[in-house]
Amino acid sequence: MKISQPIIQLDDNDNAIQRLYIEAKIAAQYAYVPYSKFRVGAALLTDKNILVRGANIENASYGLTNCAERTAVFMSHMHDAGTPQIIVVYTPTEMLTSPCGACRQVLNEMNPDMEVHMICDGDMVHITTVAELLPFGFGPKNLNV
Ligand code: THU
Repeated sequence: MKISQPIIQLDDNDNAIQRLYIEAKIAAQYAYVPYSKFRVGAALLTDKNILVRGANIENASYGLTNCAERTAVFMSHMHDAGTPQIIVVYTPTEMLTSPCGACRQVLNEMNPDMEVHMICDGDMVHITTVAELLPFGFGPKNLNV
């Protein structure tokens, strides 16, 4: 059995954006969603050109659910993958899914200038930044970090 490869070092020849879109879709296959059945896949790219996948992981104690975006950010941190520059969020739906408030806060911690791409199975794509999604956010600067 081939094991999943959730962290990938890209090289200069890779089309990073195209690869992020593909890997966000693959990530959604690893979602653990027995309750909502709502799969979310994320793929982020760091300043070290490392791609990290994440998916939502639910819990019987619903509030402990971890969203795809946070899974990717935490994985990235634990692997010393660098600062996230772009995150792609994919849902196998007709409508786009925008990061929830908790995820916006966590993304903001790592890089307010991060690009956020939302993609789905419909025609829509939306590209924005964390700073746009979380204006006047609370972050490291407020604690002089
Ligand atoms: N979810 C995410 O993973 N990311 C988002 O941006 C929005 C919501 C998950 C949490 C839960 O597992 C499911 O989607 C339904 O809320």
